[in-house]
Amino acid sequence: MRKFLIAGNWKMFLDRESAIALAREIVDGMPKRPFIDVAIFPPAVFIEAVAKAVEGSTIAVGAQNLHYETEGAFTGEISSKMVLTSGGRVVIIGHSERRNIFGESDEFIQRKVKRALDDNLVPVLCIGEKLEQRKAGETESVLNRQLNGSLREIEITDPDKIVLAYEPVWAIGTGVVATPEQAQDAHSFVRDWIRSRYGDIADGLRILYGGSVKPDNAESLLVQPDVDGALIGGASLSSKGFCEIIEIAERLQTR
Ligand code: PGA
Repeated sequence: MRKFLIAGNWKMFLDRESAIALAREIVDGMPKRPFIDVAIFPPAVFIEAVAKAVEGSTIAVGAQNLHYETEGAFTGEISSKMVLTSGGRVVIIGHSERRNIFGESDEFIQRKVKRALDDNLVPVLCIGEKLEQRKAGETESVLNRQLNGSLREIEITDPDKIVLAYEPVWAIGTGVVATPEQAQDAHSFVRDWIRSRYGDIADGLRILYGGSVKPDNAESLLVQPDVDGALIGGASLSSKGFCEIIEIAERLQTR
């Protein structure tokens, strides 16, 4: 059985003090020995402080982005080694805000996925369609294109080394959540895609749903057979909301 992963993407919010405080509140508000996995993604400059704040807990800390080169003249970018040596173990790659605001292509994203895997950082690879694409019935072809491009020539031999996140762009930060059926359909499509490419790895690989997940809609999404957790933006900025979602996942995991 796959273990739920509840992940909080803090985006470009918080300052140092409030980031540390939020991390500590999450540690205090969740089970000491959880049956599920929890990850938080603070802004890069706070990875180290947040990693210290959650020391001794099972929470994984990660980065929201990565450069694919190991080092170089890339002003403003961060490398996998910087993330790792600051205490980061996971990294979000290809978030729709990176794709749409910063113009990241599938090819660019593929290189980052490769870098993360090569350096033992667990990539959380995000994919998802825009509203006009869904309306035009293109959801599956968009997911297919993104998966093909972002995982081109990428080997996956261990399902724990990578996580996928289906995040319909129209649901991110909008308060409009995908229906459980829409999420399940997309997740099942993604799992079938993974199976066709990587075989039985698909059974163990986690596919998170992201887009306006809140405590009051989390359960209906998490009970879907192919939804293995959530990538949460807005609701992860409150320890209360985030811990409520952790509690729901914990209950579903152990029922
Ligand atoms: P949201 O963001 O929960 O605020 O919709 C999700 C995400 O961007 O990962």
